[in-house]
Amino acid sequence: MAPSTATALALILLLLRPTTLAGDHHGFRATLTRIHQLSPGKHSEAVRRDSHRLSLLSSYATTSSGSVSVQATVENGAASYHMNLSMGTPPLTFPAIIDTGSDLLWTQCSPCTKCAFKQPTPLFDPAKSSTFSKLPCNSTFCQSLPSTFRTCNATGCVYNYRYGVGYTAGYLATEKITIGDTTFPSVAFGCSTVNDGTRDNTSGMVGLGRTPLSLVSQLGVGRFSYCLRSNTAAGDSPILFGSLAKLTGGNGVVQSTPLLQNPGMPDSAFYYVNLTGITVGTTDLPITSTTFGFTGTGAGGGTVVDSGATLTYLTKDAYAMVKKAFLSQMANLTTVSGAPYDLDVCFKVTGAGDVHEIVPKLVLRFEGGAKYDVPFHNYFDGVDVDSQGRVTVACLLVLTMIDDQSLSIIGNRMQMDMHVLYDLDGGMFSFAPADCAKV
Ligand SMILES: *[C@@H]1O[C@H](CO)[C@@H](O)[C@H](O)[C@H]1NC(C)=O
Ligand SMILES: *[C@@H]1O[C@H](CO)[C@@H](O)[C@H](O)[C@H]1NC(C)=O
Ligand SMILES: *[C@@H]1O[C@H](CO)[C@@H](O)[C@H](O)[C@H]1NC(C)=O
Ligand SMILES: *[C@@H]1O[C@H](CO)[C@@H](O)[C@H](O)[C@H]1NC(C)=O
Ligand SMILES: *[C@@H]1O[C@H](CO)[C@@H](O)[C@H](O)[C@H]1NC(C)=O
Ligand SMILES: *[C@@H]1O[C@H](CO)[C@@H](O)[C@H](O)[C@H]1NC(C)=O
Repeated sequence: MAPSTATALALILLLLRPTTLAGDHHGFRATLTRIHQLSPGKHSEAVRRDSHRLSLLSSYATTSSGSVSVQATVENGAASYHMNLSMGTPPLTFPAIIDTGSDLLWTQCSPCTKCAFKQPTPLFDPAKSSTFSKLPCNSTFCQSLPSTFRTCNATGCVYNYRYGVGYTAGYLATEKITIGDTTFPSVAFGCSTVNDGTRDNTSGMVGLGRTPLSLVSQLGVGRFSYCLRSNTAAGDSPILFGSLAKLTGGNGVVQSTPLLQNPGMPDSAFYYVNLTGITVGTTDLPITSTTFGFTGTGAGGGTVVDSGATLTYLTKDAYAMVKKAFLSQMANLTTVSGAPYDLDVCFKVTGAGDVHEIVPKLVLRFEGGAKYDVPFHNYFDGVDVDSQGRVTVACLLVLTMIDDQSLSIIGNRMQMDMHVLYDLDGGMFSFAPADCAKV
């Protein structure tokens, strides 16, 4: 999609903004539930899930072939959080994965040729909803799908995408959707009728990416925020849209950095930020503008804030610096192989005293002076316990990016106990430490 088309589409969407949002002061909230917990014994699984997602994200990031709306909806390896939404009249309520790396909202619809995703709720049946309507092929949304995945025939605007072991195919439609206590009369979504893969016991997906097709763009809310609880046992995490999405805190508490566009992929759904520095304990790592910069050839490079990946992944060079700094400043601890946990920098901590005191602090710096003093448990965690439940091995929750890709990903573990704001209108990413129970 050429930038001018994107602009025109954004303008049309702005004009089509639902009347419920007529006032710019409207905001609404919902709750997020974490699907897989990260606790001792679960790290390997998290890394495996992440690797599926990373290969997907990096495949978009290296093919600068325009819109990525449908690709991202298929093989969401690390489906981490879901929220409920209600669709149709009468409404069907179902849990859907939220994904800041993609843009289409989709669910499985009946009649279904092959609905291989086991879902916890009945299939959505368009025939039973009085507010359902198919999107015609000449609609702006249909035209915004990449032509290689789009077919126009008597079924309507058909999408068909394959990725790795998963695929989804269906057609675009509009429906009435309710999130939290707010209803939107007409939201474009994908009605999938041929699918394969796994969906983590959810019934669909909600793209919250930066493109015109994403829910946040369609609803015209301008911004959204979430606060992910590290203590999942204490309850769900809030997600806020529109005017409710705002950070509070005194001077210097709220940190902000511009959201960047990857020049090699201007229509990307990803939330890119400019990571300019990393401090480990007393050492400022020699990060330069090329360490995390866009590669300039194709659409590689950059740092993405992601809701779906669990751990954080840095390019090879950056990771080597981080690893070296942790190892040299933790020389008093015995290193152990991270292989059993699919991690890398690990230490024996039995009898090591207060590990908190030994592990160096981690600080990330972003363009514009934003400084992220990463909470200890967001980057370091016990991964193995003895029969009494005492932690025996602890590891760094940062890894090197797979397949030598130049992309870096800040995963959701790094975002715990922080209120993070994606300000699409203002083009800023902001964060502040928060008690998520009070957000
Ligand atoms: C979604 O709805 C189900 C059924 O009403 C409920 O049990 C669950 O807690 C809800 N989940 C969220 C994240 O609100
Ligand atoms: C799309 O096609 C239909 C039927 O052919 C027509 O009535 C409608 O005006 C067209 N819409 C646009 C936006 O071109
Ligand atoms: C439209 O195309 C899709 C994908 O090729 C196909 O599955 C579907 O049967 C077609 N619909 C009609 C009515 O031909
Ligand atoms: C799937 O979700 C439903 C309802 O949320 C729950 O009752 C069921 O135990 C879950 N199944 C699995 C395998 O997690
Ligand atoms: C390492 O151990 C030595 C001897 O116990 C102590 O003096 C030193 O402060 C320790 N260094 C660190 C980085 O903890
Ligand atoms: C990131 O910020 C640094 C320092 O302000 C600047 O030199 C660099 O050009 C920025 N990178 C991008 C991709 O904007």
